[in-house]
Amino acid sequence: MSAPHILGSAVFAIEISSLQIAYGRLTAVHGIDIALTPGEALCIVGPNGAGKSSTLLAIAGAIRPRQGDISFFGTSIVRRQPEDICRMGLSMVPEGRGIFPALTVRENLMLGTFNRADRSGIADDLAMTLDRFPIIAERMHSPAGKLSGGEQQQLAIARALMCRPRILLLDEPSLGLAPMMTDRVYEALAGLKAEGLTLLVVEQSLSRALAFGDRVLVMREGVIQAQGSSRQPEDHASLEAAYFGFHERQNSHERSDAHERPATAERS
Ligand SMILES: Nc1ncnc2c1ncn2[C@@H]1O[C@H](COP(=O)(O)OP(=O)(O)OP(=O)(O)O)[C@@H](O)[C@H]1O
Ligand SMILES: [Mg+2]
Repeated sequence: MSAPHILGSAVFAIEISSLQIAYGRLTAVHGIDIALTPGEALCIVGPNGAGKSSTLLAIAGAIRPRQGDISFFGTSIVRRQPEDICRMGLSMVPEGRGIFPALTVRENLMLGTFNRADRSGIADDLAMTLDRFPIIAERMHSPAGKLSGGEQQQLAIARALMCRPRILLLDEPSLGLAPMMTDRVYEALAGLKAEGLTLLVVEQSLSRALAFGDRVLVMREGVIQAQGSSRQPEDHASLEAAYFGFHERQNSHERSDAHERPATAERS
């Protein structure tokens, strides 16, 4: 067995190498490399069809890549089942949240513990989660479908935390939310980041990604177009150019605002 890939003395939390994802004859992701250090918050932005969700789904084991490797704290997970990957400590909040509307808030939350048998640990985590999301605590016995979009997003994050992840993946957590609710969701994510959780977030807004992430990647048409540190002002310019440049070439008559993503590639 080869030694885990290390950065200095630390093993990468996630290391993706030469990842290719295809749906039949369509190649959605063309051999990308991404490495996340433990405790890092990495945001991926990019237009529709860029391959962002496909990348997250491949990490979580929900789709099998055509080529490449994905390792989690030094162990290859590329051929493992999603439930094994989850058990290892990788949790995902999917695009669209994946809430079961007819189940109660509590039942949705407990689905996050499907791989655990430690009752007292679950009770502790439930108490901590309800502390973190007071709105969820107030609605425990309501059908989840009665919650607002922002509350459902908080529930989806809360459920993902119930398996005590070492890494949390989130696919567009602000999608469809009012700005105030988006702020609330990101406040919760900032709390998790401050506690040292490793985060990989697909985000629609570049300005939000730069404000939240330690690092930002711009993905388009299955490749990483640019990447940079949110703390380096000179990186912002190249990220903005990669994010908006293509859009401007395609739609020279209209200017996209920094809070919207460029609508470019069409979904097939
Ligand atoms: N289940 C699928 N079957 C066939 N093609 C798919 C499937 N899922 C995604 N694709 C295609 O793969 C490409 C990448 O899609 P993906 O959903 O990963 O993009 P995305 O960056 O998440 O886009 P969005 O911003 O719209 O969520 C697109 O061309 C899409 O149409
Ligand atoms: Mg997507």
